[in-house]
Amino acid sequence: MLILGIETSCDDTAAALLEVKNGRFKLLKHLTASQVKLHGKYQGVVPEVAARAHLETIIPVLTEVLKSPPLRGGARGGARWKKPDTIAVTAGPGLITSLLIGVETAKALSFAWNVPLIKTNHIEGHIYSPLLSSVGARHALPLQIKFPAIALIVSGGHTELILIKNHGQYKLLGRTRDDAAGECFDKAGKMLGLPFPGGPEISKRGAKGNPLAYDLPRPMLHEGFEFSFSGMKNAIRLLIEELKNNVILEGGRRPTDRIHLQNTGSYRSAIAPLQDDTNDLCASIEHAIVDVLVQKSLKAVAKHKPKTFILAGGVAANQKLRQSLAAALPKTTRFLLPEPEFCMDNAAMIAVAGYFQAKKKKFVKYDKLKADANWELV
Ligand code: KG4
Ligand code: ZN
Repeated sequence: MLILGIETSCDDTAAALLEVKNGRFKLLKHLTASQVKLHGKYQGVVPEVAARAHLETIIPVLTEVLKSPPLRGGARGGARWKKPDTIAVTAGPGLITSLLIGVETAKALSFAWNVPLIKTNHIEGHIYSPLLSSVGARHALPLQIKFPAIALIVSGGHTELILIKNHGQYKLLGRTRDDAAGECFDKAGKMLGLPFPGGPEISKRGAKGNPLAYDLPRPMLHEGFEFSFSGMKNAIRLLIEELKNNVILEGGRRPTDRIHLQNTGSYRSAIAPLQDDTNDLCASIEHAIVDVLVQKSLKAVAKHKPKTFILAGGVAANQKLRQSLAAALPKTTRFLLPEPEFCMDNAAMIAVAGYFQAKKKKFVKYDKLKADANWELV
C-alpha cells in the first residue's frame, strides 16, 4: 500500500509518501516547509499568514514529494508521478484556515486520481510518530505498540495524557486546562527576547544554566491528570519583570516567594543585569515544565500500568524530557518516542495514522470530507 500523507494543521506545509508491506513501514520521501521565519517576527503563529503560506507552498511540496525518485518501473528516463493507493490528510484539530488548504488539496487529488481519502486526526498522527524511521529505512521488525498504552502528547497547542486500549480506542486521562507546555516555552522565550519558537532556544540556553537557580511553581501537581501552564507562564513573567526592574534587593527583601535563589538561600543582587541570568532562567523554566510533565506521567503509569508509554509532539524533541522519562519509567514499560525529525508536525506521521484507518477500511469520499478545527480524538 502506498499512502500519501498531507499535513497543514498549523504552520508547517508537509507531504510524505509511505509504503507499507507486510505491516512494515518504509518512508519513501517526506518534506516539510516550515513557516517559522514568517511567524518569527510576530513571536507566534498568525492564522492568516499561515494560510496564505500554505496556499503558496502546498503544490511545490507535493510536487517534490511525488516526483522523484521514480518508485515503480515504467518511467522512460527521469522522474514520474506516482499515484498513491490512498491519501491521508489532517482534518483537525488545528487552525481552520490552515486545515482547509490541506483538506481541499487532498480532495482535489482524490477526485483527479480516483483514490479514496482518509480523514486523519492530528493528535493520532503524533501518537503514531514513534513508529517511523528515517527515509528509506525499514525496521527489522515491525515496531509495535503493546496495549494498553499511555501517550503524553506535548506540543504548542496540546498537552494531554491519553490511555490507549487498542488501535483507535482512546480515553482522555487529563489535559491542560489552559495553555499547552509548548506555549509556555514559546511565551517564556518571547519574554526573554529569544527567537521563535522558544522551546528549542530555552533548551539550548538552559543546557548552560543552573536548573535550580529559580524556584518556579508546579501548578496542579497533585490534582489528578490535568495540567495548567498559564499560572507558570505568569510566574515566569513576574520573575522576568522583577529581574529587569532590579527590584530584588540583597539582604532579605523578597518581592515574591518565587524568586529567591534556591541553591544559595540568598537573594539576587539588585545590580545583577538580566543578561547574566538568561541561561539560569532558561534552565529553571525547562526544569519546571519537564518536572510537571514527568511527575504527571509517572502518576498515570502507576495507576494504569501500561505496557507502552508514548511521548510525542513538538516538545518531545526536548532532550531533558526524553532523558527524564527514560530514567523514571518502570523498566517493564516500553518507552516509544519519535526520532527528533518526527517530533514536530510532519506528514509522515499522518500517513502512518492513516494506514491504521485504511486497515479498517475507514475511507471517506472527497465530497464528504470536511476540515474540523475542534476535532477531539477522545
Ligand atoms: O507539534 P508541533 O510542531 O506543533 C504543534 O502542534 O503545536 O510543536 C511545536 C512546539 C513549539 O511550542 C516548540 O517550542 C516546541 O514544540 N518545541 C520544543 C522543543 N522543540 C520544539 N520545546 C521544548 N524543547 C524543544 N527542544
Ligand atoms: Zn502537532
